[in-house]
Amino acid sequence: MMINEGLLTAAYIVASVLFILSLSGLSNQETARRGNIFGIIGMLIAIFATIWGSQVTSYAVLAVTMSIGAVIGTIVAIRVQMTGMPQLVAMLHSFVGLAAVLVGFATYLDASMHLEGVEKTIHEVEIYLGVLIGAITFTGSVIAFGKLQGIIGSKPLLLPARHLFNLGLAIACIWLGYEFIHAETVSTGLILLLIMTAIALTFGVHMVMAIGGADMPVVVSMLNSYSGWAAAATGFMLSNDLLIITGALVGSSGAILSYIMCRAMNRNFISVIAGGFGTSGGTSSTNNDDSDKEIIQTTANETAQLFQDAKNVVIVPGYGMAVAQAQHIVSEIVKKLRDKKINIRFGIHPVAGRLPGHMNVLLAEAKVPYDIVLEMDEINDDFPDTDVVLVIGANDIVNPGAQDDPNSPIAGMPVLEVWKAKTVVVMKRTMAVGYAGVGNPLFFKENTRMLFGDAKASVDDILGNL
Ligand code: TAP
Repeated sequence: MMINEGLLTAAYIVASVLFILSLSGLSNQETARRGNIFGIIGMLIAIFATIWGSQVTSYAVLAVTMSIGAVIGTIVAIRVQMTGMPQLVAMLHSFVGLAAVLVGFATYLDASMHLEGVEKTIHEVEIYLGVLIGAITFTGSVIAFGKLQGIIGSKPLLLPARHLFNLGLAIACIWLGYEFIHAETVSTGLILLLIMTAIALTFGVHMVMAIGGADMPVVVSMLNSYSGWAAAATGFMLSNDLLIITGALVGSSGAILSYIMCRAMNRNFISVIAGGFGTSGGTSSTNNDDSDKEIIQTTANETAQLFQDAKNVVIVPGYGMAVAQAQHIVSEIVKKLRDKKINIRFGIHPVAGRLPGHMNVLLAEAKVPYDIVLEMDEINDDFPDTDVVLVIGANDIVNPGAQDDPNSPIAGMPVLEVWKAKTVVVMKRTMAVGYAGVGNPLFFKENTRMLFGDAKASVDDILGNL
């Protein structure tokens, strides 16, 4: 079966509108589910319209490759834990990058493309940019996967003269691009394209290796943006309008997300890309050995008592709540305390957990009402009037060192100022550091109580005591 061009265009327009509706739905927790459904329908229309379009010549090859991809995708999606999502996303970005590189080479070698003059130049610019962005996205995402998975250390790799090195690579790519467009023969062009690909692959590795642990959220959203532009470039190469639109949507929304993340971390986008943040670890006082400092421990029973006596309570969840899958029991505690007319709210840091919106997803899953889940800027001024803050498996996002210690790798990052409350109960298993690898002076404050143990077991215990 094959559909005509008119129908294909109509299907692509419908799919594009659905993708836009999907993105706007995903911008709000209450409409996110609907947004997902729009996205799924849009993608189904896009896939089937493309399959039945005139560009497909071999259904057998398509059926085999799609089946293999669908089986692998389904297994991976079913198996992945919520805490492993960033790695999966990084891996998927790398596929988009690799696809752009392969399509670029295939298109360049396609003998049926006999273009002349300006058309030829435009086509070659599309190929060059597609391969360039694709190659950077590919290796950048593979390294990001390694860092998020813990295969590669989160410490930034800082080569001497790394900015000069990057500049050299950029100049080489521009020069190679000029030569590529003016190449006399396909074989010369191919060699130039291969050299540029090697440089772009190196740049991708270097770019992400130079980024410190705490800045990984920015990198993930930046690679998300790159993968969108790589897909858009692929759309230009294949003359596929939908791929151009979808790629541009992903590219621009990823860029906006990167900007939001940078603002949340008080970072400058260019400096994050140039790398080196999170580097001054050795000189930070928050990195010193804390073994001689005193902490005050507490119990689930005492914490439950603190709750009973409180008027205002704030819960700050972090990555540890996701690991422990404690959100459902936390939701029960919230119900209990609200029944007792205690004002209980959540304070969510923009980079809590390992995914944008990670905590919001978990709390929505546990049916915590949206109106008591507040962003960092909405709740930070309320801590001095708060009786009890319960920090569940969070560390970097409540680290006062970000404000007090200019040498800290997370210096300048806005944090939830939980230490300003009357009492802070910190739930974690050990005294271990968080993702950024920095010690946390919060644990040693006079008004802090440490409740050690797995977050799920501890909240279960608190619930029992309530
Ligand atoms: P972290 O700083 O990673 O701290 C999490 C804490 O949870 C750890 O100190 C750990 O201490 C504790 N924990 C782990 N498993 C636990 C369990 N089962 N029960 C109780 N506690 C447990 O997390 P955060 O405060 O949410 O900050 C997020 C960090 O991740 C930031 O540095 C951010 O930049 C980075 N990051 C964020 C993202 C996005 S987009 N959100 C993406 C990549 C990286 P113990 O081991 O002692 O229990």
